[in-house]
Amino acid sequence: MNTKIFDISPEVIDSSLLLEAAKIIKCGGLVAFPTETVYGLGADATDAQAAEKIYAAKGRPSDNPLIIHIASPEDADRYAYTDELYYALARAFMPGPLTVIMKKKDTVPESVTGGLDTVAVRCPSHPIASELIRECGVAIAAPSANLSGSPSPTTAAHVISDLDGIIDGIICGGECEIGLESTIVKIDGDKLTLLRPGAITADALRCVCDNVEIAASVTEALAENERPLSPGMKYRHYAPSVPLVLLEGEPDYILTFLHNAQNAERCAILCYHEELDELRCERLIDIGAQDDLATQAQRLFAALRRADELECDVIYAHLPCKDGIGLALYNRLIRAAAHTVLHVTRDNLKHH
Ligand code: TXA
Ligand code: MG
Repeated sequence: MNTKIFDISPEVIDSSLLLEAAKIIKCGGLVAFPTETVYGLGADATDAQAAEKIYAAKGRPSDNPLIIHIASPEDADRYAYTDELYYALARAFMPGPLTVIMKKKDTVPESVTGGLDTVAVRCPSHPIASELIRECGVAIAAPSANLSGSPSPTTAAHVISDLDGIIDGIICGGECEIGLESTIVKIDGDKLTLLRPGAITADALRCVCDNVEIAASVTEALAENERPLSPGMKYRHYAPSVPLVLLEGEPDYILTFLHNAQNAERCAILCYHEELDELRCERLIDIGAQDDLATQAQRLFAALRRADELECDVIYAHLPCKDGIGLALYNRLIRAAAHTVLHVTRDNLKHH
């Protein structure tokens, strides 16, 4: 398939190009587009066959439901049974990086929701995403625009490397500002369950709802045979081709550990900006300043893609704290590492 590339600047949107991309979606095709979180792979959310094409293009299991993207918060009423809590969340966080799960209406085909009776709804703030949805006149179903098993794409180049020749079009619209997928919450009466952490933090949600519960699977491995609240949680998601090991402990010990590792093995290191001068190996990837969690979030997926391209036998990264957007970083890294955490102490330093 010949994939049409649309170069559109988010600052001055070329409306004729955008119309052309929208037309492909309205005719049942697939177009990747930028959002403020990660790039999405879009199809008409009311067209069962178009949604099925998404699963085929990504190689995604068809019981893993899609998020539908709307242009303004009220549009949710066409697809879901909204309530007061939904509108309170909408007033506080929409448009923006929040996805809300509610009971679905019949306008959403079962292929979009993986057979569930609920639907995930998100109103993105990225100008290209929002214009594209408006132009289509329907909700756009969109998972992240990567092949199943690679990190979510945060640049158009990532999308091209995964999906060129497989989908109808790709809108190239620059780097994604946030870099991690949206926060997902499920509404149950007056309770919110946080299923996937993102840039809208648990504390921010608590300003709108007294009862916010963080699903255990956000930080813990699922027990065997346990049924996850969100089907996506049971898939290992992205894992690099060599082991990823997360380091925790005293900063000085970790630095010494990394020094030793550089001499002893072929390793790639996702390091803090401050450590660049200290470490100086050939496979260092600057993830941002230690206290700048937003930059670390923005760079994480590109860093993991790069680390995976380097010839090495192991990748090391710091175990993030769980505060604020740190919880989202922690959640993505701990899963990519298959929960491999090494606690660095003075004792195991000697033995390494
Ligand atoms: O930031 C984002 O949310 C990006 C951009 C493109 O909007 N999209 C995204 O989609 O990350 P995806 O498909 O990669 O992740 C959607 C997650 C999956 O883990 C899926 O299982 C969960 O949302 N999900 C979707 N519908 C659900 C539902 N009805 N109940 C529970 N989980 C649901
Ligand atoms: Mg995804």
